[in-house]
Amino acid sequence: MSKTLTKPLLKMSVTSLPFFYLLLVLVINAAAATLLRPGFYSETCPEAEFIVRDVIKKAMNREARNAASVMRLQFHDCFVNGCDASVLLDDTPNMLGEKLGLSNINSLRSFEVLDEAKEALEGVCPGVVSCADIVIMAARDAVVLTGGPSWEVKLGRLDSLTASQEDSDNIMPSPRANASYLIDLFDRFNLSVKDLVALSGSHSIGKGRCFSVMFRLYNQSGTGRPDPAIQPKFREKLDKLCPLGGDENVTVDLDATPETFDNQYFQDLTNGRGFLNSDETLFTYPKTREYVKLFGANQNEFFKAFVEGMIKMGDLQSGRPGEIRRNCRFVNRRPVDILLED
Ligand code: HEM
Ligand SMILES: *[C@@H]1O[C@H](CO)[C@@H](O)[C@H](O)[C@H]1NC(C)=O
Ligand SMILES: *[C@@H]1O[C@H](CO)[C@@H](O)[C@H](O)[C@H]1NC(C)=O
Ligand SMILES: *[C@@H]1O[C@H](CO)[C@@H](O)[C@H](O)[C@H]1NC(C)=O
Ligand SMILES: *[C@@H]1O[C@H](CO)[C@@H](O)[C@H](O)[C@H]1NC(C)=O
Repeated sequence: MSKTLTKPLLKMSVTSLPFFYLLLVLVINAAAATLLRPGFYSETCPEAEFIVRDVIKKAMNREARNAASVMRLQFHDCFVNGCDASVLLDDTPNMLGEKLGLSNINSLRSFEVLDEAKEALEGVCPGVVSCADIVIMAARDAVVLTGGPSWEVKLGRLDSLTASQEDSDNIMPSPRANASYLIDLFDRFNLSVKDLVALSGSHSIGKGRCFSVMFRLYNQSGTGRPDPAIQPKFREKLDKLCPLGGDENVTVDLDATPETFDNQYFQDLTNGRGFLNSDETLFTYPKTREYVKLFGANQNEFFKAFVEGMIKMGDLQSGRPGEIRRNCRFVNRRPVDILLED
């Protein structure tokens, strides 16, 4: 009895699953162009924003720096093929992901905080909230919880089906970058000079490694000398923290108030106390200097421009097919994968 029942069933599933998969891909493709909007989950997961906020708060209680590390993920996600949580994917035997990228390896962190938020959301409304949207909510929350401005986030993104170390390496800027290079890079994403300077103000919180500053301290532009833009007292401090031949994983505050989102960063740049070359260059270069001065003198102007920049950056989308991942580190198993494995 059971034999006669299972055989035809099995046969049916083998022939229909690829077709089902094709349909699924078509449906997902159609969804890839959805418009982002505030309140996207107000019907399907009304608690979503509270849940994420709560996870970020707890993560900050464990370690204040989690706020900065989580916020940075929006930049590294959105610049590489749009805001699609590609940066959260772990490597697999046939996919080298973005976590291996030059700007990310041994540097991007707090992935477990995103995992926690996802797990909490899956417990309440499974399969509804994308990891890409969690990144965007978490970045906003990190800014708010460190004393920065608040804003309404647009939601409704899909998670990517893939990630690319190569794309990350080609796009993400080096800490050695100069302002003119950064202006061109941001322009490719329709982000203005003002957006560039305001978004760099994210370095108002968090830390960087000596690794990112060694060349600047000891061999700027291959001259064998330090970058002359570094204030002498600040250089003494950096020389001590990051000596030649020392541990390049040692971390240094990115500004004088690394747990508070404020305009201190811009005042530091004005005084030659920017940590990265890509920071101090914003004061050295005439086109960006005016904004550094403006934001250093007027925190409200900084906050307004920062929010604008974060929203614009959050709008970047690849238009590629996507899904709502169950686990932010892995693409969902497709019917076709299951077929191939069985
Ligand atoms: C303008 C070009 C930018 C460059 C070249 C750059 C580069 C860097 C580098 C080299 C570090 C330290 C990494 C390390 O040494 O391990 C860092 C840290 C950080 N970046 Fe950027 N960044 C840029 C823009 C941004 C933007 C637009 C954001 C977010 C809106 C951002 C957020 C952060 C944060 C919050 C940290 C501290 C992370 C932590 O403490 O874990 N950065 N960035
Ligand atoms: C800025 O960096 C780019 C790319 O590394 C380089 O080609 C250019 O000469 C630099 N510009 C200045 C003014 O140093
Ligand atoms: C920048 O804006 C132009 C014109 O509106 C648009 O065609 C292009 O896709 C935008 N680029 C990005 C990366 O969003
Ligand atoms: C400084 O950089 C230049 C060019 O990159 C290189 O040729 C030189 O060996 C470096 N010097 C030191 C002391 O690292
Ligand atoms: C930093 O630490 C990682 C392991 O956490 C190690 O693989 C890497 O080589 C270290 N990098 C530097 C520049 O010392």
